[in-house]
Amino acid sequence: KKVVLAYSGGLDTSVILKWLQVEYGCEVVTFTADLGQGEELEPARRKAERAGVKEIYIEDLREEFVRDFVFPMFRANAQYEGLYLLGTSIARPLIAKRLVEIARETGADAVAHGATGKGNDQVRFELNAYALDPDIRVIAPWREWDLNSRAKLIAFAEAHQIEIPRDKRGEAPFSVDANLLHTSSEGKVLEDPAEPAPDYVYQRTLDPEAAPDKPEIIEIGFERGDPVSVNGEKLSPASLLARLNDYGRRHGVGRVDLVENRFVGMKSRGVYETPGGTILLAARRGIESITLDRGAAHLKDELMPRYAELVYNGFWFAPEREMLQALVDKSQEYVTGAVTVKLYKGSAQTIARTSPYSLYSMAHVTFEEDAVYDQKDAEGFIKLNALRLRLLARRRGA
Ligand code: ARG
Ligand code: SIN
Repeated sequence: KKVVLAYSGGLDTSVILKWLQVEYGCEVVTFTADLGQGEELEPARRKAERAGVKEIYIEDLREEFVRDFVFPMFRANAQYEGLYLLGTSIARPLIAKRLVEIARETGADAVAHGATGKGNDQVRFELNAYALDPDIRVIAPWREWDLNSRAKLIAFAEAHQIEIPRDKRGEAPFSVDANLLHTSSEGKVLEDPAEPAPDYVYQRTLDPEAAPDKPEIIEIGFERGDPVSVNGEKLSPASLLARLNDYGRRHGVGRVDLVENRFVGMKSRGVYETPGGTILLAARRGIESITLDRGAAHLKDELMPRYAELVYNGFWFAPEREMLQALVDKSQEYVTGAVTVKLYKGSAQTIARTSPYSLYSMAHVTFEEDAVYDQKDAEGFIKLNALRLRLLARRRGA
């Protein structure tokens, strides 16, 4: 029996690692990914080695994450329930994909993850894994073991010589998930939605009130819907998002405090910081506003909530997400140009946009006299559109 574990190197997954070895009698392969969470990966290697793990996978997946997951999702301008930029949701398919691939490479018959039995992440890891390997076995220790209190977890760790960081002895004040796109915080001090989040919850953005009093102006270049440059400098997907994160952090951009509907049925309160992603969304809306036709723009906006829900619920590798992606990608053919964004005390606002493929026609829109638009055409246009409204009004006796 061999299992590939999504291993962060933290206390919880270290306990899971040991638990799989002693309770399940499994040989464990660890997989640790750098998705830009800002933590060193070498300690994970050292801890896995010390636990006797022979096959240790440590991979920098930042470029793949942004290029093949984050950017495609942003082409849809996806927001779940109007606010959540899906920073945790979009990382899960990539992790599941690598788990399944590593299981194949190492001859393992199962994968394991550290998500609880109450949340979305278990659903996402497992749906995505089954979509890629119908015969894979999934082990979710949080749903099986009896280490359901912090005290029991710590006792297990102590009994098995697992390193317990000083700050992890007590209860963590809230649960965090981070990557290049966002940091999420939920649980514990955040559980009561009637209570504002304490300041210390925010980890990667300045308080907008403490942000510089002077606005900063940046220019983002786009090609076919994806950002390719900042202030004229070409950047790879991951370095571009990291650059936008720096700007966003400084200006307190991208903080959200919300209550969302989990796929498993309950509501949950989360605090999210998505600095670069929030700037990117504003800029993408800016470039689409001049390059997309109205019909195309409105159709993709109507489908956006569906797309977002699929990503949220863990259906990244489902045909309906891929169908919507094809539609969205087709719409991006001419979404090329540059957007100027103003960052100021928590806000990111498009203030200018240009494109070689702009549909914006100064000739048509001008308030001055023009030669291209006959105002008389509007009269019949309005009359015919009014026809049924007038018939309805007459029936009402108006
Ligand atoms: N509620 C968010 C989501 O479902 C974030 C989940 C955060 N995960 C975590 N391990 N804290 O996408
Ligand atoms: C978890 O339950 O592991 C985190 C929260 C979630 O998945 O929604």
